[in-house]
Amino acid sequence: MEKPFDDILATGPSSCEEVARLLAASDAERPRLFARAAGVKREHVENKVYFRGLLEYSNRCAKDCYYCGIRGSNTRVRRYTMTGEEVLAAARHAHDAGYASLVIQGGEIASPARTREITRLLQQIGEATGDALGITLSLGEQSRETLREWKRAGAQRYLLRIETSNPALYAKIHPRDARHDFQRRLNTLRELRACGYQVGTGCMIGLPFQTLDDLASDLLFFREIDADMIGMGPYVEHGDTPLYRHRETLLPRPARLDLALRMIAVLRIMMKDINIVAATALQAIDKVGREKALKAGANILMPNLTPVKYREGYLLYENKPCVDEDAVQCKECLEMRVRLAGDEIGYGEWGDSRHFARRTGKKQETNEARTTKIP
Ligand code: 5AD
Ligand code: FES
Repeated sequence: MEKPFDDILATGPSSCEEVARLLAASDAERPRLFARAAGVKREHVENKVYFRGLLEYSNRCAKDCYYCGIRGSNTRVRRYTMTGEEVLAAARHAHDAGYASLVIQGGEIASPARTREITRLLQQIGEATGDALGITLSLGEQSRETLREWKRAGAQRYLLRIETSNPALYAKIHPRDARHDFQRRLNTLRELRACGYQVGTGCMIGLPFQTLDDLASDLLFFREIDADMIGMGPYVEHGDTPLYRHRETLLPRPARLDLALRMIAVLRIMMKDINIVAATALQAIDKVGREKALKAGANILMPNLTPVKYREGYLLYENKPCVDEDAVQCKECLEMRVRLAGDEIGYGEWGDSRHFARRTGKKQETNEARTTKIP
């Protein structure tokens, strides 16, 4: 006999069917799902939101994912890579603003020159800020040697979304070649773990061809690989990409947003102490999408610190917010948004995933703890 909705809510889902059942909450059940997620968030990670300053370091990309606006073969994008000075200035800004954490994200380039450049930047950021910033990298699939080198140079966390945990769906939204290999991506996630990174992954929600079972499997996948951080957001179509022709088949945007919020709520119930990002893409389809995500269980926001002149070049999807707002405007805007959602901001704290601390037995590092460490 099918387990009642409220029982699954109380115990947490244990099978794909049960996860899918929670995701499919009826209008009457929906408030109970969100109340439960809010309760779990309060109890396990408190109502504290951590900021990660986001640098969109470069839009050069060797990949050609069918959904992404900066895919290598999109010739309508002006390509850029931030200079070392720009990265350092942004890192100082993040530090001064009390963000305590920086994310360096960029297209996937695997070359000795790129490896060296990132290593150098990590070392310089460490020197410029007295190792006070927590650093997350999000630079695609890289070799074990490169990942090790970056870890040694000062990165603690790495984000690599699996995009979808269903290999058949993965094959539909990527070119079928060795560069876009599901298994290779999985292996990179394992490498990251073996290197000692805090590992973040995630998926897109509302992709063409995607089913509710696919999404339920994504959540189970995150639990199975025991991820420390999850970033997932709605798929948002982009006119210069191959997937655009399937736009008629997509869920309408409000329904897509709602599905993304349910995903966040169910994930919070399933993985109580991880960090969950209120993804920027949420705001592309709803002005207050990120606030809604905080209410649904997310606890991380990523204010954009990319110099405004580059932002047009990093349009992964349509309607991307904050294209014209500089770092100060973004900060003020986000502060207001967090307050509106009834949370507070963990300024000056690294906000490492509690899950990571528990899984490794490490005390949660704060920049205070780091700066008082004997060199
Ligand atoms: N809609 C939503 N998210 C997208 N991403 C790339 N293209 C899109 C899109 N069209 C996400 C991917 C990638 C992250 C950097 O941006 O999940 O991992
Ligand atoms: Fe950037 Fe609002 S978050 S302007």
